[in-house]
Amino acid sequence: MTLILTDVTLTYPDGEGRLTALDGVSLEVPAGTLTAVVGPSGSGKSSLLAAAATLVTPDSGEVVVAGTRTGPLTPAARAALRREHIGIVFQQPNLLPSLTAAEQLQVMAHLSGGRTREARRRALELLDAVGLAEKADRRPHQLSGGQRQRINIARALMNEPDVLLVDEPTSALDHERGAAVLDLLVTLTRERATATVLVTHDRAHLDRMDRTVTMDDGRLTVPAQV
Ligand SMILES: Nc1ncnc2c1ncn2[C@@H]1O[C@H](COP(=O)(O)OP(=O)(O)O)[C@@H](O)[C@H]1O
Ligand SMILES: [Mg+2]
Repeated sequence: MTLILTDVTLTYPDGEGRLTALDGVSLEVPAGTLTAVVGPSGSGKSSLLAAAATLVTPDSGEVVVAGTRTGPLTPAARAALRREHIGIVFQQPNLLPSLTAAEQLQVMAHLSGGRTREARRRALELLDAVGLAEKADRRPHQLSGGQRQRINIARALMNEPDVLLVDEPTSALDHERGAAVLDLLVTLTRERATATVLVTHDRAHLDRMDRTVTMDDGRLTVPAQV
């Protein structure tokens, strides 16, 4: 099991008290499978991803990524674990305006000390995998919203993550482009054997996912394992 959350509770300061964003959440995601997370706005979906990404530390419970218990890790060790094992795709691509598509990906390899030539080769391979081989030298303003989101996804895969966390990737896209991005995520999950968690509003494609879990007021409902 590549990603395991066990009884995770996360609270945020809220005036005099605390707001419970995750309330005893448990989830196991095997490699090569995609779990969709649905639920109303404010129910804790992004908090679930933040906890899985080790970007926030839960009040209690445990997050295990690729066999490593993350609770005892120092912040530096946690950052290293993220670089090596976790790919994160946020709602907005946040691409750097001055860089070409290939360079957006290559930056990731440089951050983890990779070699330039190998990074270039891998960037081009991933752009091909997301259907953008021809656009490697384009800059963000020369690309459509759907193409930018594909680059965002390819970038998250640069360091061959075991865990892929994706937050509402289709919210800025029209229906057709959104459907293509979700298809792509299913394909990449299989091909690259990632344990993928996808937060989505797009109920139209849930049948293509391995399973759908529901967040409601910080509580997660997981159907019987497939
Ligand atoms: N950094 C934060 N500080 C305080 N409260 C937060 C923070 N992030 C989220 N929340 C609150 O936690 C709850 C869950 O938020 P979130 O995980 O973003 O839900 P969702 O992604 O399902 O919309 C909401 O009530 C939200 O206002
Ligand atoms: Mg959210």
